[in-house]
Amino acid sequence: MSAFFVTGTDTSVGKTVSCRAIIQAMQNAGIKIVGYKPIACGQDEPVYVDVLEEQQDDYGKADNRDVLVLLNSSNEKVTYQDINSYTFDHTMPMLSMGNNAARIRIEKINGDLKRLTSAYQSVLVEGSFGWLTPMNKDYTFAEWVAAQNMPVVLVVGIKEGCINHALLSVQSIENMGLPLLGWVANRINPGLSHYSQIIEELSMRIDAPLLGQIPYLHKPEEQDLARYITDIERLTYMKTELLK
Ligand SMILES: Nc1ncnc2c1ncn2[C@@H]1O[C@H](COP(=O)(O)OP(=O)(O)O)[C@@H](O)[C@H]1O
Ligand SMILES: [Mg+2]
Repeated sequence: MSAFFVTGTDTSVGKTVSCRAIIQAMQNAGIKIVGYKPIACGQDEPVYVDVLEEQQDDYGKADNRDVLVLLNSSNEKVTYQDINSYTFDHTMPMLSMGNNAARIRIEKINGDLKRLTSAYQSVLVEGSFGWLTPMNKDYTFAEWVAAQNMPVVLVVGIKEGCINHALLSVQSIENMGLPLLGWVANRINPGLSHYSQIIEELSMRIDAPLLGQIPYLHKPEEQDLARYITDIERLTYMKTELLK
């Protein structure tokens, strides 16, 4: 019925961990929800890009960590292929691997998303890298989200430089006319001083609610994270009000 998009201030800031927390919290509120990761990429920079063979199908291996975490976080019976349109072994296939970029078809992604939104109450869509990441030659994630008119959640990995990255992302989301549902503070660096001042500063400057704060945790992908999402009303309200 409705979908929303989770982006982050950067890669490795805790988008996937926050997606797990949101899915678990919404399930506790009685909502049937699945995650969807349109384009899953490998994390490692390939050493010899030019000599790597191009992938011939949509799935390098059905083993991307983000897709598996989204799959495990939902109570719904979905398969890997249901919640992912493309898996690549290497990073940034949309840029670096010749015809791979041409193979990412927005129509396939739209079709896969539609199938999920017609079957479930809510679909959480996890982006790749940050807000303005290209999806293929024609679309950035931001442009695709705008075309789909999806509300956005911004995950801020709390570290040096995050205020700048967060405010730039918020500005761009707002400039595209999209509702910012809220933001999640993820404490990826336990040693960082000024944590509470950063949260205070961001709260003052972002005109959308702080949906929750995730502390630094051991193996967060294996834990029940629902309690860290504290503004569940906003996530459920979004579906009925923001997109009227
Ligand atoms: N709150 C946290 N506490 C401890 N480790 C975290 C936390 N959030 C993320 N991590 C770790 O940081 C890495 C990147 O997180 P991930 O959710 O995959 O980021 P993204 O989806 O933005 O790339 C993972 O190894 C994850 O386990
Ligand atoms: Mg991720």
